[in-house]
Amino acid sequence: MAVPPEEIAQVRAATDIVALIGEQVALKKAGRRWSGLCPFHGEKSPSFSVNAEEGLFYCFGCHKSGDAITFVRETQGLDFIDAVRLLADRAGIVLHEDEKATGASKDRAQLLSAMEQAVEFYHQRLLSSPDAGRARDYLRSRGYDGDTVRTFKLGWAPDDWDQLAKHLKASDHILEKTGLGFVNRRGRQQDFLRARVVFPIFDPGGRAIAVGGRILPPVPGAPLPDRPEPKYKNSPETPIYSKRRTLYGLNWAKKAIVESSEIIVCEGYTDVIAFFEADLPRAVATCGTALAEEHFAVMRNFAKRIVLAYDADAAGQNATSRVYEWERKHEIDVAVCQLPTGTDPADLARKDPEALRQAIDEAKPFLRFRVDRVLSQGTMTTAEGRARAAEQAIAVIAEHPDELVRDQYLIDVADHCRLDVAMLRDRLAKHRSGERVVVAHERAIANEPSSSDDEPEHGVIEDPRDRPGLEALRLAVHRPDLASGRLEAFLFVNDDQHKAAEALLSHATVADAIEAAPPPAAALLRRVTVEEPTIDEDVADPVGPVIAQLLRVLVRQRVAELQLALRRGEGDLASSAKTIAELQLAVEDLGQEETGIEAEAWLLEWFAHDLEASSE
Ligand code: UTP
Ligand code: MN
Repeated sequence: MAVPPEEIAQVRAATDIVALIGEQVALKKAGRRWSGLCPFHGEKSPSFSVNAEEGLFYCFGCHKSGDAITFVRETQGLDFIDAVRLLADRAGIVLHEDEKATGASKDRAQLLSAMEQAVEFYHQRLLSSPDAGRARDYLRSRGYDGDTVRTFKLGWAPDDWDQLAKHLKASDHILEKTGLGFVNRRGRQQDFLRARVVFPIFDPGGRAIAVGGRILPPVPGAPLPDRPEPKYKNSPETPIYSKRRTLYGLNWAKKAIVESSEIIVCEGYTDVIAFFEADLPRAVATCGTALAEEHFAVMRNFAKRIVLAYDADAAGQNATSRVYEWERKHEIDVAVCQLPTGTDPADLARKDPEALRQAIDEAKPFLRFRVDRVLSQGTMTTAEGRARAAEQAIAVIAEHPDELVRDQYLIDVADHCRLDVAMLRDRLAKHRSGERVVVAHERAIANEPSSSDDEPEHGVIEDPRDRPGLEALRLAVHRPDLASGRLEAFLFVNDDQHKAAEALLSHATVADAIEAAPPPAAALLRRVTVEEPTIDEDVADPVGPVIAQLLRVLVRQRVAELQLALRRGEGDLASSAKTIAELQLAVEDLGQEETGIEAEAWLLEWFAHDLEASSE
């Protein structure tokens, strides 16, 4: 991955930082500098300034600073080398990376170019081909005019096996790696999308990276297909397309998002388009996946506030305590907009765009939304009903990590349910402590007056899901004799734990690891060095159960992803089903005395391999 330093310098020199940042921030010349509203934090008067000669930016408000490469990294969620590549592309500079990396970046360039040609092909078919007549009728019936079709570069994938493949004349490798097609059993190239309206997906810089395709509604009276097709088919994960990071629409919406410091997140392609048509051009959607932390990390570069605009039922489904964690970690507020039940933004935009705008205006903080929902569904006319509603509201409030926030909601619930707030506080305290199984060493620590003041989590009850990871870290620190060779960083799904493990695994001493780790991970390491692992020395393999717990979580996640992909009609049915079965069998073996070690080794290998495959 090495790019010679002189070429990095060349990329910096060739980049006009004012033009680059100007794509996202309205910059005004002020003396010798340029200034504007900071894209990294919400503000009303400009404290962000760019120095064209030095090629640097600095914000006097949030103190973010850097050069063109930093800017691209931070705003587009790229790593250093990808940011350099992107800027080199812009400037027309060819990088001389080492052999392997050159191969990868050449590959990327070819994939991007094939994707661009495919999107253009589909688009032209929709605009002018006779076989796209039904697709055009359908889009018109949804209120899309020519402008909409052109803005979003919608397309039509013909009702045939290989028209795109024939047009592209790409190698099997490129066709498969873009997800645009595959080689069928007879060894012939075949298109991935067939007889579908195409919604191309772009990266924030406007490069096409994937496609989604929607079937047309059935022709009245026509026979039903033998096998029902999924409504949408989306490109698989590819070297140019990461689902956990991609937000459909961000390329068109980023300007309005930065201006308003607000980003609307909805569920689908048509919802995003509907928001644009309703004069709210700051909407994005995840592409057939749930909102992931990576999405948050991307969004925080553009806005301070996220408004979730899901169908009323789906909004509740996203009710995870992770949202609070992400809010805090990424310093971003999450609000939820209330849509009429069974209505998605696209429906509402057509029926009543004003109502949609109002719903966005009136979006409530995530917790407010959830508490209100519980209360409004409760029976408030009887004492029993009010007590039950309060109980449910407390369960929701208990998930919030901040006591000051919790207490305000509690007061509200007390009012609403006509109950004594002191009593509710008591309930809440019980609820929160009940969630925690206090193990011996934790009790010992909790009883000791805390001397460290760099414990940001002070007084916050941790997520029980993070416990196995903590224990594994304790083992890694205190019992390297038992843990060494069996712990891998990818076992830790909690981000800080992951970073802590990474640091531990790559340094000779714990002190070195603490030195090298980012602050939250370092704090975590400092903490586990003063805690004892709670292993049972008498059993043959005390580490096994801890690793097993971590692996179970990973397997559960991976299986869910595979199942979701299958439901969406993505991936190869037979091979995914086999993988699911193998993973589940291995998990069952994990607990067993005879098979445990072998299953652990198999799973570790499988995930290491899976990880390698998914990172290009
Ligand atoms: P919806 O079923 O709500 O579709 O799925 P939609 O966007 O409202 O589309 P229209 O208005 O009926 O045409 C929401 C999103 O979930 C993903 C797509 O991203 C879709 O936009 N999805 C849905 C799939 O990936 N696959 C499916 O089979 C269905
Ligand atoms: Mn929908």
